[in-house]
Amino acid sequence: MKEIKKILVTGSVGQIGSELTIALREKYGAENVIATGRKTKPSKELEESGPFHFIDVTSIESVEEIVKQYNIDTVFHMAAILSAVGEGNPQLCWNVNMNGTINILELGLKYDMARLVIPSSIAVWGKGVPLDNTPQETVLKPSTMYGVTKVAGEILCDYYVQRFGLDIRGLRYPGIISSETLPGGGTTDYAVAIYYEAVEKKHYTCFVREDTVLPMMYMPDCIKATLDLAEADFDKLVHHSDFNIAAMSFDVKELADSIKKHIPDFSVEYAPDHRQAIADSWPNSIDDACARQEWGWKPAWDLEAMTEDMLEKLEARNNEGRLYR
Ligand code: SER
Repeated sequence: MKEIKKILVTGSVGQIGSELTIALREKYGAENVIATGRKTKPSKELEESGPFHFIDVTSIESVEEIVKQYNIDTVFHMAAILSAVGEGNPQLCWNVNMNGTINILELGLKYDMARLVIPSSIAVWGKGVPLDNTPQETVLKPSTMYGVTKVAGEILCDYYVQRFGLDIRGLRYPGIISSETLPGGGTTDYAVAIYYEAVEKKHYTCFVREDTVLPMMYMPDCIKATLDLAEADFDKLVHHSDFNIAAMSFDVKELADSIKKHIPDFSVEYAPDHRQAIADSWPNSIDDACARQEWGWKPAWDLEAMTEDMLEKLEARNNEGRLYR
């Protein structure tokens, strides 16, 4: 197994990418982690903590330029169009997610890279899947273009592992909740927005029903899972690009109740929209036994601890008049 030395992060301005880049810089050295984005301006922290470039993952030349310039040996490929935005523009979703992924795989081969980390999502599931404790191996019939690209991406990555011996790892992220960068255009975004609006307005209008249950994870666990999988012993991995991982599952009422313990006059109303059908097609909870066995995955955060931490961070920012930065 080769050592991780020079890292490229695509999608570094996104919800996960922004915090992952900072964590990678702390672990591997700031100058060794090259952050990239398509057009959104990076935060001051991201820009000032190490190299940042604008690239377009759908153009292999644009990515290759950075790979050559920095002698990149590892890619964390976080750039993707998420489920809700993808339904508004399925062709764009296919183009960014599929061509972006195959470009990274081809560059991984061409430059004999040490590691590619290419995430997947709960969106791989859909019709016919057991919704409770969804097993690692089960039917993959997504209802969104985002899900289609994630299923195809997993299979494509595993093909590059088997056919070319490339070292590729990926996990199926549940909804990720975080306080630093807002998610962009996913179905699970309500679980982040509810905290911001609880702090700002003490009221939230939710775009899925009160009884909607989805698997979720707090950002510190998401970062830990990503870093741990990246450093796991390749020889011990049976799976590669499609690990189930789980942390917590709750419905919106339970989420709202956890916030009400801190903000008693917080209220929620429900106005389900087109995202309800997407949420209903995804599991309630996930069986992550393979991740636990193969690379020691274990979550640390539950709903109550996450709510306390989220509200503390957002309230501190709100008091300084920069809730949304
Ligand atoms: N958070 C993503 C979405 O809602 C799921 O991976 O699209």
